[in-house]
Amino acid sequence: MELASARLHKGQISWWGLLLTASLLTTWSPPTTAQVTIEAVPTDVAEGKDVLLLVHNLPQALRIFNWYKGNNTEGAYEIARFITADNTNRTGAAYSGRETIYQNGSLFFQNVDKSDEGVYTLSGLDQDYAPILKFYVRFYVHLALQKPSITSNNSSPMEGEDSVLMCGPYTDNIIYLWRRNGESLSEGDRLKLSEGNRTLTLLNVTRNDTGPYECEIRNLVSANRSDPFSLNIAYGPDTPSIFPSDTYLLQGSNLSLSCHAASNPPAQYFWLFNEMPQASSQELFIPNVTTNNSGIYTCFVNNSGTGLSRTTVKNITVLEAVTQPFLQVINTTIKELDSVTLTCYSNDTGISGIRWLFNNHSLQLTDRMTLSQNNSILTIDPTKREDAGEYQCEISNPVSSKGSNPIRLDIIADPTQGGLSEGAIAGIVIGCVAGVALIAALAYFLYSRKTGGGSDQRDLTEHKPSAFNHNLGPSDNSPNKVDDVSYTVLNFRDQQPKQPASASPPPRAKESLYSEVKKK
Ligand SMILES: *[C@@H]1O[C@H](CO)[C@@H](O)[C@H](O)[C@H]1NC(C)=O
Ligand SMILES: *[C@@H]1O[C@H](CO)[C@@H](O)[C@H](O)[C@H]1NC(C)=O
Ligand SMILES: *[C@@H]1O[C@H](CO)[C@@H](O)[C@H](O)[C@H]1NC(C)=O
Ligand SMILES: *[C@@H]1O[C@H](CO)[C@@H](O)[C@H](O)[C@H]1NC(C)=O
Ligand SMILES: *[C@@H]1O[C@H](CO)[C@@H](O)[C@H](O)[C@H]1NC(C)=O
Ligand SMILES: *[C@@H]1O[C@H](CO)[C@@H](O)[C@H](O)[C@H]1NC(C)=O
Ligand SMILES: *[C@@H]1O[C@H](CO)[C@@H](O)[C@H](O)[C@H]1NC(C)=O
Repeated sequence: MELASARLHKGQISWWGLLLTASLLTTWSPPTTAQVTIEAVPTDVAEGKDVLLLVHNLPQALRIFNWYKGNNTEGAYEIARFITADNTNRTGAAYSGRETIYQNGSLFFQNVDKSDEGVYTLSGLDQDYAPILKFYVRFYVHLALQKPSITSNNSSPMEGEDSVLMCGPYTDNIIYLWRRNGESLSEGDRLKLSEGNRTLTLLNVTRNDTGPYECEIRNLVSANRSDPFSLNIAYGPDTPSIFPSDTYLLQGSNLSLSCHAASNPPAQYFWLFNEMPQASSQELFIPNVTTNNSGIYTCFVNNSGTGLSRTTVKNITVLEAVTQPFLQVINTTIKELDSVTLTCYSNDTGISGIRWLFNNHSLQLTDRMTLSQNNSILTIDPTKREDAGEYQCEISNPVSSKGSNPIRLDIIADPTQGGLSEGAIAGIVIGCVAGVALIAALAYFLYSRKTGGGSDQRDLTEHKPSAFNHNLGPSDNSPNKVDDVSYTVLNFRDQQPKQPASASPPPRAKESLYSEVKKK
């Protein structure tokens, strides 16, 4: 009786899907332990994979237990049974050949397909063949995902157009993920996802949207990724750039220009010189240029894909190398504190700079130095001893430069600043004049004694003043040679105005010179 009521009770519980009879609980194990549980491992199975319907704590008092496909425990749905008495099992009508029933109650299912998805029932009979347990478990079979592929309604858009990418083929219950250049994409201003993220719309594409794109599809059990897909976006040409950027070229060098413009498909390049076609290439090469090659060079680029063209022009000037400049100074020996002017002459036009060198280094201008006439004239006023040295001027144009021959300036110490005293200088000068006079007098004396006077002497005296003229400049209006000589001497005297009387040479010597000359 007890058993019968227990059976009835069990039936009700089994309707709820989970049970262990009260009698079982009371007869063979403490009610708090031995909780029977059942699970599918895994619940979501990829097609072709295996699943274990795992039973925990199966009551050991069972005489027999059965697995059924579905929730119907009729014989037609029996997969297999296990008889605990002799540890044997038998397969049932619904056995597919891929199931294995274990002593511990679990059922192992191999190589499942979509039709295996669903509910499975475990039922058990006690020693009296009374059903005392019934459990249901469910698993899902998911198709292994095929490799998806990307298609586009416009895979070669022009910059500014829209393009729609679709990931296919379409399958239910899958998640779509998009990547561009390996980075996950999400919606943005120009990027829209639709149809459950299956469709990616690119609005107003730019050349940076080229890709490659990948779409990945996922379900609970698998994932697969498409091959990379790139858009062939037509753009450009952008404004071309010309290299190198030099504007000036030295005559005789090679002109080698190269033009580049971003463009897809690649642009065609053309060169024009003063609007006359030169070459249909990206590079232009003209060896050994002359000034005739100065002019306007145009790079013309055209994109047949977009039908657009652009140009960039470049002015090239071919210059001859500058010739050597000439440095001039009136006198290379200057008395300290006097001024000196150095003048740089050049025949070249288009000189872009004049530089001054002092002892082979760039001249450091002091406040005593001035540059004038576009730096072609250097004036030092007043000079100092440290100004003595080699001067050069160097002229340049944008492609060449050349230095003059050096000129050495000697700066003679100012006597008031030390060095030779005025008196000493005066003494030397007068001594020299006197010496020359004496020698001349002696020579004249000897000569006239030998020849008795003659026309040759005229030549000698005529020659003398012309040499002076060359050296010291003035005096074409001199009435005669005597005046020339005196002028020269006086000139010397003027330069030594402070000559003290005590240092004068013997006056007789000078007088004799005058008298000898006057005789002629
Ligand atoms: C039952 O036996 C199978 C096969 O030996 C095993 O994989 C499974 O883990 C066992 N179940 C339990 C609950 O131990
Ligand atoms: C592709 O689809 C987008 C959005 O529908 C549309 O704007 C674009 O014009 C289409 N392109 C072509 C070539 O059909
Ligand atoms: C689409 O993708 C976004 C992320 O980009 C995600 O937040 C959203 O849940 C996805 N929608 C669907 C239906 O998968
Ligand atoms: C493309 O990207 C580069 C660098 O990321 C950027 O400088 C350029 O402006 C972009 N071009 C367009 C058309 O968006
Ligand atoms: C100029 O080009 C010629 C070939 O045309 C080459 O032989 C020469 O070396 C080049 N000169 C320079 C300075 O590059
Ligand atoms: C360059 O041209 C000049 C004159 O046009 C010519 O005299 C010279 O030989 C040429 N040099 C070379 C390397 O071709
Ligand atoms: C430059 O062109 C003129 C006329 O075309 C020609 O007479 C002259 O010889 C050319 N000069 C050089 C350096 O090639």
